[in-house]
Amino acid sequence: MKALVLAGGSGTRLRPITHTSAKQLVPVANKPVLFYGLEAIRGAGITDVGIIVGETAAEIENAVGDGSQFGITVTYIRQEAPLGLAHAVLIARDFLAGEPFVMYLGDNMIIGGISGLVEEFRHTTSDALILLTKVDNPSAFGVAELGADGRIIRLVEKPADPPSDLALVGVYMFGLAIHEAVRSIKPSGRGELEITEAIQWLVDGGYDVAPHLVEGYWKDTGRLDDMLETNRHILESIEPAIHGTVDEHSTIVGRVVIEEGASLVRSTVRGPAIIGRGTRLVDTYVGPFTSIYHSCVVERTEIEYSIVLERATIRGIGRIEDSLIGRDAEVVPSSALPKAHRLMIGDHSRVSVATS
Ligand code: TTP
Repeated sequence: MKALVLAGGSGTRLRPITHTSAKQLVPVANKPVLFYGLEAIRGAGITDVGIIVGETAAEIENAVGDGSQFGITVTYIRQEAPLGLAHAVLIARDFLAGEPFVMYLGDNMIIGGISGLVEEFRHTTSDALILLTKVDNPSAFGVAELGADGRIIRLVEKPADPPSDLALVGVYMFGLAIHEAVRSIKPSGRGELEITEAIQWLVDGGYDVAPHLVEGYWKDTGRLDDMLETNRHILESIEPAIHGTVDEHSTIVGRVVIEEGASLVRSTVRGPAIIGRGTRLVDTYVGPFTSIYHSCVVERTEIEYSIVLERATIRGIGRIEDSLIGRDAEVVPSSALPKAHRLMIGDHSRVSVATS
């Protein structure tokens, strides 16, 4: 069995971060989202992995390399434009070469691995196995309607009037019939070859598509809120470890990782939280559910329930919550007159300023 990991796409919902970098590489608890997926695939005993890449190909290839750091062998497959999940299957046909495969969306987090599922699929005669989970807002997802016998009747992409609260999780198992399905469907209204339509084609053609209800935790990290929530979830179970330096005026409370070369000066970190290698905290409070990546500087600031990317500088600006701060970003006070906010904000950024 092979794996096909989707790490192309346009990531419009995570702009401006995705204007300059791949959303699959945004770190959750200081590890890129994509790496959790690759580890889950390896954990299921699959080593032959195709990765679909788009505009951010160079960045993904630089981070994942030949896959040996994960114990897998990676083949990169270039998608010239994000033409849909089923389009990714279409262009991966030669790589997949007549073997069943697991398709994994590179920005999805499924906790607890996929070994059980892969094992289940190895032993069935089904043509596809799709994962479903109950969600509160089905209109934002691909949704399945099941019959009284538990079989799939219909799949619909982001329905205005959802037939159920069962959303498709971003992991699918496919046999060989999917290749004919992706060749047979036409682009949708948004110009994409939709995987839901390809699966519907299988259902309509009498192929056996088995549903599997996911009990564990699953998140599509495509939006800021989901990213922060996933970060919270992963941090809740990290192994505390202090590798950096903590001065005698600093305090660490609860589940906290301080990576190598990080330093705390007159600062408090209240876990769960992780402070990346080479990051420096001075007169700062880091509250629960915060991940600060490597080589950042945070001074005279309180920050909680947030993700800070590499080399960002935050200095003396009060309290930050529910935030994602991009690479090399600078958030600093201004003493120049007139007293004003001075901003250089990327396209599609969102800034909410607390006014008193
Ligand atoms: P999505 O999150 O559905 O799409 P997107 O990346 O274009 O993001 P947005 O909706 O915010 O614009 O994609 C799921 C995963 O699949 C993600 O890791 C990107 C990847 N993908 C591809 O590799 N090729 C594609 O054609 C599409 C649509 C997505």
